[in-house]
Amino acid sequence: MDETMSDALQMAIETTASMSDSQPEQMSKHEKQAMLTAKMPQEKIDIVNKARKEFISIWNEKVVTARGEQAENLLKYLDGKHCDFFIAPASARSHGAHYGGLVMHSLNVYHCLQDVLTAGIYDSIGLHPSEDTVAVIALLHDICKVNFYSVESRNRKRKDGTWEAYPFISYNDSFPYGHGEKSVYMISRFMELSPEETMAIRHHMGFSDCVDDNERRLYSQAAQKYPLCVAMSEADTRAALLLEGFGTNQYKKEHANQA
Ligand SMILES: [Fe+2]
Ligand SMILES: [Fe+2]
Repeated sequence: MDETMSDALQMAIETTASMSDSQPEQMSKHEKQAMLTAKMPQEKIDIVNKARKEFISIWNEKVVTARGEQAENLLKYLDGKHCDFFIAPASARSHGAHYGGLVMHSLNVYHCLQDVLTAGIYDSIGLHPSEDTVAVIALLHDICKVNFYSVESRNRKRKDGTWEAYPFISYNDSFPYGHGEKSVYMISRFMELSPEETMAIRHHMGFSDCVDDNERRLYSQAAQKYPLCVAMSEADTRAALLLEGFGTNQYKKEHANQA
């Protein structure tokens, strides 16, 4: 490991890396990147590269300036060899199920959250989170998906009857600690979160992640005490379903014919 790294960063990286130790056969970041980009046109790879640069720029401007070394260390982890954040998909089958889908989704949620927070209701209840809080919760709410997806080459039949190889994405959660709560845990290895940030990340899925009345009650209580949970859930839903999901594509198709 790089000798210039601080003890805190080394410890955090080792802890998070140990979360995937149960998969000795796991492919390297480089191998995963090669497989995910094998059939990808260069212009799409360029979009992902641009998203990575935008993420880093926002992180440095909004978070590192406010939180210093802890935020710098977290970025080093995200961009390091133990972490696939900037190349990983956002899902296996639905939104962002492709190379770089996770960083693109994180940026989409960041921009959606900024829009959501301009809605009158949040102003009227006095919800005005700081710029670094908005960046942290939006950009890292799905950090739980780091080193979560694996890729293998599978074959499928083209329309003309010939076969082609394609990257098949599946998941293997080597640290099954949940979704929002896992993101909170991972971020906390590097950087302190406020109670409001913890709640907004933990509950970013809103009611959609609640499987019973107890969970619905828990979310309701969290949302009433920390309305940022509701804003985050709105932003995450807009990004996943309207910008990246299948629903929008269908809507766009139908309305493109009317234009
Ligand atoms: Fe999520
Ligand atoms: Fe998300």
